[in-house]
Amino acid sequence: MADLLLGQTLAFDGNPMTDGPGVARHDRTGAILIRDGRIADMGDGDTLRQRHPQARVTDYGRALISAGFVDAHAHYPQTAIIASWGKRLIDWLNSYTFPEEMRFSDPAYAADIATRYFDLTLANGTTTVCSYGTIHPESVDAYFTEAQRRGLCAFAGKTCMDRDTAPGGLRDSAQSAYDDSKRLLERWHGQDRLSYVITPRFSPTSTPEQLQALGALWAEHPDCLMQTHLSEQTDEIAWVKSLYPTARDYLDTYESHGLLGHGGLYGHAIHLEPREVDRLREVDASLIHCPTSNTFIGSGLFDMDGLTRAGHRVGLATDTGGGSSFSMLRTMAAAYEVAQLRHRALHPAELWWLATAGSARSLLADHRIGNLAAGMEADIAVIDLASTPAIAQRANRAGDIWEAIFPTIMMGDDRAIRAVWAGGREVTLSGRGPYKNPT
Ligand code: GUN
Ligand code: ZN
Repeated sequence: MADLLLGQTLAFDGNPMTDGPGVARHDRTGAILIRDGRIADMGDGDTLRQRHPQARVTDYGRALISAGFVDAHAHYPQTAIIASWGKRLIDWLNSYTFPEEMRFSDPAYAADIATRYFDLTLANGTTTVCSYGTIHPESVDAYFTEAQRRGLCAFAGKTCMDRDTAPGGLRDSAQSAYDDSKRLLERWHGQDRLSYVITPRFSPTSTPEQLQALGALWAEHPDCLMQTHLSEQTDEIAWVKSLYPTARDYLDTYESHGLLGHGGLYGHAIHLEPREVDRLREVDASLIHCPTSNTFIGSGLFDMDGLTRAGHRVGLATDTGGGSSFSMLRTMAAAYEVAQLRHRALHPAELWWLATAGSARSLLADHRIGNLAAGMEADIAVIDLASTPAIAQRANRAGDIWEAIFPTIMMGDDRAIRAVWAGGREVTLSGRGPYKNPT
């Protein structure tokens, strides 16, 4: 049975960061037809109704039918420590993150958090996440098992740390990181809608031997993505310099170990040297902007304008739980605010593209997710553009679609998510209140 969804539709025929907002395609009375997990047809509502009279119709009225959001960098194991007060990166890792990640040696705990995490992300309209696990292979099994059960397109990898800068209970070795990552890759990569991502946490918690081993694994599996962190805070960069005294810069610690390339995802990438900017562009690597994290942990202001002008491939991400939200709407708002501080007003079309097609492109997956078009996998978020009184009263004044969308970008949350479809099936949204008050 095919499903015909009616509403306002928003899709992209190009990249608004480089080609302008005119590449967005908005249809006030649009429709998409979903069949066998894919978008089989798209166009005007009346036309599609006539063309597909047998389809089951869901009429979303004035709500906006968009591709589901794509979160290009997150740490699902940090779900329970999101919004932890008062620290900068290295203290934050030691005080909150590492103790929590140790709990993932228990597969039951990992399964519990994976379930909670996907409840929350789906309730926020996010249909694909690229996540870090912990050092425990079981954390990756838990994540992929839950994503597979829900029919999601999902990316993840085992976080690798073998240096004594990481706590004793949270260390692997160069060999075990290679072996475990390879075993997980062979088990999960390409199963249903799942992709394995080779995941050295960052240079400070890996030995050169481990970086080399993971570089070798990537060379053996070039169809996999590789994710890590790069130049998030200035203290971190100084730390990298002290640990890798012969490296030309932070990026060189990856480059010299086979960990720089197309399909490499570099989280944060804020304080870059000119050589790093050039090399990242030359290899067409992906830079992942994590704006709520960068303000929450006090890291700095990503140079969205300069980097996209220079032709960099950029994705957008929550960086949960360094980031302070599960919502890509909130993340778009933070991206807008950070760009404002750099005197560049990102257009709503640019923000929406970054949270959907742009992030999918950063994961080299924009041919199948992140946009609405015939043939794409049917991951959909239906957005109520009047989800609260404050948003509604502003949206009611809107003169065009962008003025109608922007209040939801700036003020929207999970209440704006009217429905979600993943892999062509409607998702039951269970990650919403009411909740018990904390004691
Ligand atoms: N750098 C290394 N690990 C992490 C992490 O878990 N979160 C953030 N924000 N930065 C990191
Ligand atoms: Zn991160």
